[in-house]
Amino acid sequence: MQKTAIQVKDLQKSYKSLDVLKGVNFNVEQGSIFALLGSNGAGKTTLVKILTTLIKQDGGTAIVNGFDVALKPGNVRQVISLTGQFAAVDEMLTGQENLIMIARLRHLKNPRQLADALLTRFGLTEAAKRRASTYSGGMRRRLDLAMSLVGTPPILFLDEPTTGLDPEARIEVWKMVKELADSGITVFLTTQYLDEAEQLADHIAILHEGKIIASGTLTELKKLFPAAEVEYVEKQPTLEEIFLAIIGKKEK
Ligand SMILES: Nc1ncnc2c1ncn2[C@@H]1O[C@H](COP(=O)(O)OP(=O)(O)OP(=O)(O)O)[C@@H](O)[C@H]1O
Ligand SMILES: [Mg+2]
Repeated sequence: MQKTAIQVKDLQKSYKSLDVLKGVNFNVEQGSIFALLGSNGAGKTTLVKILTTLIKQDGGTAIVNGFDVALKPGNVRQVISLTGQFAAVDEMLTGQENLIMIARLRHLKNPRQLADALLTRFGLTEAAKRRASTYSGGMRRRLDLAMSLVGTPPILFLDEPTTGLDPEARIEVWKMVKELADSGITVFLTTQYLDEAEQLADHIAILHEGKIIASGTLTELKKLFPAAEVEYVEKQPTLEEIFLAIIGKKEK
């Protein structure tokens, strides 16, 4: 039996007269990748903030790793990590210093070894001693992800992990996220990109006008729509395929 990592029941949240979440329900299985899809302003960040104890809901319950976020926020914080929509990297510090700082804040032993292991894992060894302000967007995201893995939390929240990245960097982040899930970490991510959910998620939920309007595996969601009539036309490559072919990288 799969254990449930996150349980959300009838969750509600308003900002003054704006009802953002109007009774949201879903479960996330342990060790899976769950993608919350929604357009700008749908309430994705609001939901992530409630689940990570940064703000309180107005109604309903959310249980993370067995702890109620409203009643036991301290316990919840010990088992989660959050990579926010906007990178939390300190630009003045080097990649290595950023990681060491987090390890020290978390009172972990051997911060330097921990930092170096993560730099290797995220392909940042060569850039380790350069200020983060000199990193590309993709490198910064990778450092941000590495920072949220200091102390290996079992549940990782990623709020729009690839917004603003070029296709190559997105694929790199996807690879990282898949590896994390393979190592047993539960990943809750939000995205506006359908292809991102398609690539990564074991389970997809679509948030629209305050509610989950569809939820399931990709196969289940596809069944909701009638199969398209088969037409014989030449398959045109997508712009992403062309871009990747030109720069010499193939999507795996
Ligand atoms: N602190 C706040 N006070 C008032 N309104 C807010 C606040 N935070 C968010 N909102 C509003 O709530 C709605 C949902 O915002 P939220 O940031 O959760 O959306 P989102 O799905 O994360 O959007 P995006 O894709 O742009 O990141 C938006 O209309 C937003 O303007
Ligand atoms: Mg957001």
